[in-house]
Amino acid sequence: MNSFGAKLRLTTFGESHGRGVGCVLDGVPAGLEINEKFIQNELDRRKPGTRTGGTSRQEDDRAEILSGAFEGVATGAPIAIFIANTNAKSGDYDELKEIFRPSHADYSWFMKYGVRDHRGGGRSSARESAARVAAGAIAKLILQTIGAKVESGVAAIGGIEGDIYDFAYAVNSPIFALDPNKEAEQIAAITKAKQDRDSIGAKVKIRVTGVPAGLGEPLYDKLDAKLAEALMGVNAVKAVEIGAGAAAARALASKNNDQTSAKGFLSANAGGILGGVSDGGAIDITAHFKPTPSISRPQRTIDIYGEERVIEIKGRHDGCVGVRGAIVCEAMTALVVADMALVNMGSKIEHIKTIYGSERQ
Ligand SMILES: Cc1cc2nc3c(=O)[nH]c(=O)nc-3n(C[C@H](O)[C@H](O)[C@H](O)COP(=O)(O)O)c2cc1C
Repeated sequence: MNSFGAKLRLTTFGESHGRGVGCVLDGVPAGLEINEKFIQNELDRRKPGTRTGGTSRQEDDRAEILSGAFEGVATGAPIAIFIANTNAKSGDYDELKEIFRPSHADYSWFMKYGVRDHRGGGRSSARESAARVAAGAIAKLILQTIGAKVESGVAAIGGIEGDIYDFAYAVNSPIFALDPNKEAEQIAAITKAKQDRDSIGAKVKIRVTGVPAGLGEPLYDKLDAKLAEALMGVNAVKAVEIGAGAAAARALASKNNDQTSAKGFLSANAGGILGGVSDGGAIDITAHFKPTPSISRPQRTIDIYGEERVIEIKGRHDGCVGVRGAIVCEAMTALVVADMALVNMGSKIEHIKTIYGSERQ
């Protein structure tokens, strides 16, 4: 399906080489300031052609707000945003008309639909993620009003892992590196992969601070479950961890438990979520990206007739999709947390009284 979210409902549309991509975001509370500059800035952070490890495709990625905002403020109507495709070189993909790219969505989507827009992967292309980032920017604006903030950064490129998570540093790093001491080595690993006509995977951290305790719904819409769903839905993400994540399976409770003092939790292995509900601490998420599937090395594959072929993929592809993918993870995280904040408004009678009852202002 192409829609996501309960109260804050996102629908995206568009393909890589069609007229453009876009989103319709429904459920944005009226009166929210729609800061167009902020939305554009978020798109610029994801934009191709600006990052080490990114593709040389130069997309303009201009966000055009078509509806739902008047004089800079949300009206309560669905917010529609369109982002035109301005740099689609469809000719680069002619050879792919009948051949499946290894590890891309080509084979499985063809099995499912029987037709495909082979140009740039059509809708399976991460071009669609520009629409998610535009919607995520609005979710961030909602979160700003309650003092919550979503940040991200690259913790590892291939096996080169940092020891420091400096989110402020990552903002200006060409690869969103979290560890300034590992950045140069990580950039070199991407460059080497590209020189070798290869690509490389990445580990991305996402952090949400200022989240009130109580967000997340038992039992099937747990906050961690919603985040995992949202982030596994980002192209090329192969694993998601919350807090200690997979390491918890190797730990003893005496080490893994987050003991508590009157001042708060003494550790954060839970990653800010207990029993599917936010505990008031920072939410700590890790997303693992596989290497960009499209590489120019010869690879074995088949065509739509089942014949064996060798493919050497042309076109302009990211050397490490995790770098730009970090911004998409931020957007999806913001959408989930903002959605859960809206859903949670009916969970206590105090909330209802504040809005409708004697305690209303
Ligand atoms: C920001 C971003 C950019 C991407 N760019 C490319 C690309 O240039 N070439 C490519 O083959 N895959 C790229 N991908 C990955 C594919 O979209 C993805 O691997 C494909 O849709 C198959 O889905 P899966 O890996 O989730 O199974 C990108 C992913 C992200 C998040």
